[in-house]
Amino acid sequence: MRILFLGDIVGRSGRSAALDALPGLRRDLKLDFVVVNGENAAHGFGITPKICTDFYEAGADALTTGNHVWDQRELISYIDGDARLVRPANFPKGTPGRGAAEISLPDGRKVLVVQVMGRLFLEPLDDPFQALEDILSRYRLGATIAAIVVDVHAEATSEKMALGHAFDGRVSLVVGSHSHVPTADAQVLPGGTAYLTDAGMCGDYDSVIGMGKDVAISRFTRRVPGDRLTPADGEATLCGVFVETDDRSGRALSVAPLRIGGRLRQAFPEGWRNTKAFRGDSVPPYPP
Ligand SMILES: [Fe+2]
Ligand SMILES: [Fe+2]
Repeated sequence: MRILFLGDIVGRSGRSAALDALPGLRRDLKLDFVVVNGENAAHGFGITPKICTDFYEAGADALTTGNHVWDQRELISYIDGDARLVRPANFPKGTPGRGAAEISLPDGRKVLVVQVMGRLFLEPLDDPFQALEDILSRYRLGATIAAIVVDVHAEATSEKMALGHAFDGRVSLVVGSHSHVPTADAQVLPGGTAYLTDAGMCGDYDSVIGMGKDVAISRFTRRVPGDRLTPADGEATLCGVFVETDDRSGRALSVAPLRIGGRLRQAFPEGWRNTKAFRGDSVPPYPP
């Protein structure tokens, strides 16, 4: 199975770049399944039902969120009715929404999408390792489920890496989100799980993790309430990871980072270069 995960969509810049590119990516990479982290899609804070619909229409099969899941209040009443929208599984019992979504492809194959949130440098939550263990106890990779994608929404690289190794061989992909900066450690772990510490954001990298620089800087340099953070609006780099899995085992055959457009050094999974929207000289040289 050919799977793409796109990291945190930040604001209009990230949103429109991702929505524009998804149909072409689906076609050119022959994607079977697409997961998008949408926690910052609505002006940097949360996601709305309308944006969820836009992403499904553009080719996302599932959406994940994170600590910003409730920033747009309308999501609280919406989330239970959207079977493809996932929030962290280790939120307290009684929280609306689901931490795992089982999604059937048109050909009958099933994919499980799970999100857990880290506890280091974030709000207190239940144990993400135990939460994932509880969910996985209901599945057997390669038997009852063709692929399992785990979005680890966490600040600390160590916590993400520990989760990757703890579940190596039992899931298809462990990919980090939340830091908004892509890491360079994409690999297939010894047990067969594809791993990347952070996918990076889909947003304007001439920014402080997607937000306008001046307000972001003044938050560090002055101890007075300042202007509200707003997303930077320059050209976005789409950041994510492409994984190919073996349907019989559910384990990864290969993993490749994806970085398209904007300011970052470009990285294309094999076979993608023919995509019309970003072909040839529209790809900026590196360094710029
Ligand atoms: Fe985020
Ligand atoms: Fe986050």
